[in-house]
Formats: sequence, C-alpha cells, structure tokens
Amino acid sequence: MSLLLIAPDRDMTPWSEALQAEDPNLDIEIWPNVSDKKNVQFAVSWNQPKHLLDSYPNMKAISSLGAGVDHLLGDEALPESVTICRVVAPSLVQQMKEYVLGTVINIQRNLVQYIRQKDIGRWEARSHPLAKDVGIGILGLGELGRPVAQQLAQVGYTVSGWSRSEKNIDHVNTFAGADQLPNFLGQTQILICLLPLTPETNNILDLDLFKQLQNPSWIINVARGEHLVDEDLIYALDSGIIDGAWLDVFNEEPLPNKHAFWNRENIIVTPHIASITKPSEVADQIVENYKLSLSGMELNYKVDRDIGY
Ligand code: NAP
Ligand code: GLV
Repeated sequence: MSLLLIAPDRDMTPWSEALQAEDPNLDIEIWPNVSDKKNVQFAVSWNQPKHLLDSYPNMKAISSLGAGVDHLLGDEALPESVTICRVVAPSLVQQMKEYVLGTVINIQRNLVQYIRQKDIGRWEARSHPLAKDVGIGILGLGELGRPVAQQLAQVGYTVSGWSRSEKNIDHVNTFAGADQLPNFLGQTQILICLLPLTPETNNILDLDLFKQLQNPSWIINVARGEHLVDEDLIYALDSGIIDGAWLDVFNEEPLPNKHAFWNRENIIVTPHIASITKPSEVADQIVENYKLSLSGMELNYKVDRDIGY
C-alpha cells in the first residue's frame, strides 16, 4: 500500500523527504509516477488535475496539503467514500498572524503611501487614526481567524469577528450567522476574510456587503479568490464605497497579466503567500492520519463534507 503525493504545480520531493523522515518504512509515490493505482490508500493533494481522484479504487482518505479543502470538495471526481482531512499547524497560524498584522498596520499608518511618496521625493505627513479607533472585522473565527483576531485585539485595535456558530473570545466582539452579519459589518472599517470557500461563502465579498461597511473601509482577502466579486470591487473603489483592497488570493491564479487589479494604486496584490505549509511542520500529522486511516480509525482534522470545511 502506498501514500500518493499529488500537486502538479509543486516540487513534492521535500514533502516525500519529510514524510520519509517521519517513517522510513513508508511507501511514498509522487504523481504522475504511480506504479500500481490499486496500492494507493491515502493521498496528500493540492490542486489535483480534474478526473483524477476517482481512479484509485482503494483510496481511503485524502489530506489537503493546506488549510483549505475547496479544491477537494469542489472536485466532481472525489468519491463519496473518501474521507477528507486538512492540516493544522502553529506555523500556519503564525504566518497568517504576521501577514494580517502587517497589512493592517500598513493601512492604518499609510505606509504604502509613504513608500510611494519616497519614490517621488515628496515629504507629506498624513493623519492616521489611533488603533483603538479602527474597527477591524474578521469573517471566520476558525483555526486562523481566531488567533488573528486575538492578536489584533492585543495590539489595541477594536476587533469583531463573525462565524457560523456563536463564540466567546476575550476582547473580541463576536457575531454569528446571517442575521448578525449586518451589525458586524456596520462596525467594521478593515474587513479581513478568513472564511473557507463553500457554497454559502462563495462571492460573499460583493457590492451589497461593501455598502454595509463603515466608511472609509478596506478589504483584506487572505482566504480564496472566489469569495470576492472582482467587478464589484472595482466598482466600489471607483465610486468611493471602499478605499482599498489588499489581496493575496484570486479567482484565477496566477493573476492574469491583463487583470484590472494590477493597475490600481489602491489594490495591493501578493501571490498567495500569506501562509505556506512547510512539509516538516505537518509531516507528523499526515503520517499519523495515514496510519489512522489504514486502521479504520477516525482521522484528526477531519472535514465535515456536509458543511464544506
Ligand atoms: P476553519 O478552521 O475551517 O474556520 C472557518 C471559520 O469560518 C469558522 O469560524 C467557521 O464558523 C466560519 N464559517 C464557515 N462558514 C461560514 C458561514 N457560512 N458563515 C459564517 N461563518 C462561517 O478555517 P481556517 O483554517 O481558519 O482557514 C480559513 C481559510 O483560509 C481556509 O479555508 C483557506 O481557504 C484560507 N487560507 C489561505 C491561506 C493563504 O495563504 N492565503 C493560508 C491558509 C488558509 P464556525 O467556527 O462556527 O464553524
Ligand atoms: C492555503 O491557501 C491553504 O489553504 O493552506
């Protein structure tokens, strides 16, 4: 039996080495070099080609290589019987905390504008609000959203968070469910999306939502490009409904050269790097899940296929 690594756009050798270091007896294969499809019982996958996942008759479980599982659940070739799990790691949380704190401070303190002013030799002080007067709203209070919210509150921002189920988090105003979304948005100036991509959250960042934010407002999307309606963002920026957007994820990645986002001063683009899974940080949990699946036991970090995360 074997563990298959599937990620067409990545070099999976470091993954194979990290897993092998965890257990030298593992039989690991890297797609597309599969000796016998019937031997594959577990896969680790990222952006797998379509029409692939149903060709392994004995596959029991698949782990996402990252936190998101939308690439798996949105794949029509994923058999119903296959269990899905994700990775959870302190290093993923730490990187996301760093990225989001960096973006928020940049926006609050006008740092992007100062970098541009330096390029043209302009000495011009801009006013900025105190952190306590900036309302930050975080969509999603899960493995990443909760610690991000806690950190921002600790730094001194006024922080709210929105999730499906009710939460109680020190120094964070929490809101739950669709009914409470308008109240949450009404106290938000900097909106951070850390939701999983599901049918309910697809296109959630649209014009109707932007209009409910406090003015001036910024959007930070570090979740998935499909949460955002690109045309609505352009319209909202052009009509002054929102001030700017800081985007790490896109409907199409890499962001096409001709995409309107590239030429906008008030849209910052980063190439999906907010939080990257390091093989050595998650090899132990993947090997453990592989072994749990072989013995028919419940996996760690299992995804609920009904709710989509
Ligand atoms: P998670 O642990 O699954 O948490 C998801 C959160 O969203 C939960 O709080 C959940 O509410 C909430 N939620 C889900 N559906 C909702 C809905 N319909 N209405 C309101 N709240 C809803 O996810 P995570 O690990 O924090 O990661 C979030 C996403 O970040 C991932 O799915 C991935 O797409 C993205 N990500 C991006 C990067 C990057 O580099 N840009 C890196 C890692 C992850 P409950 O708590 O009530 O269930
Ligand atoms: C990255 O986008 C992840 O889902 O881990």
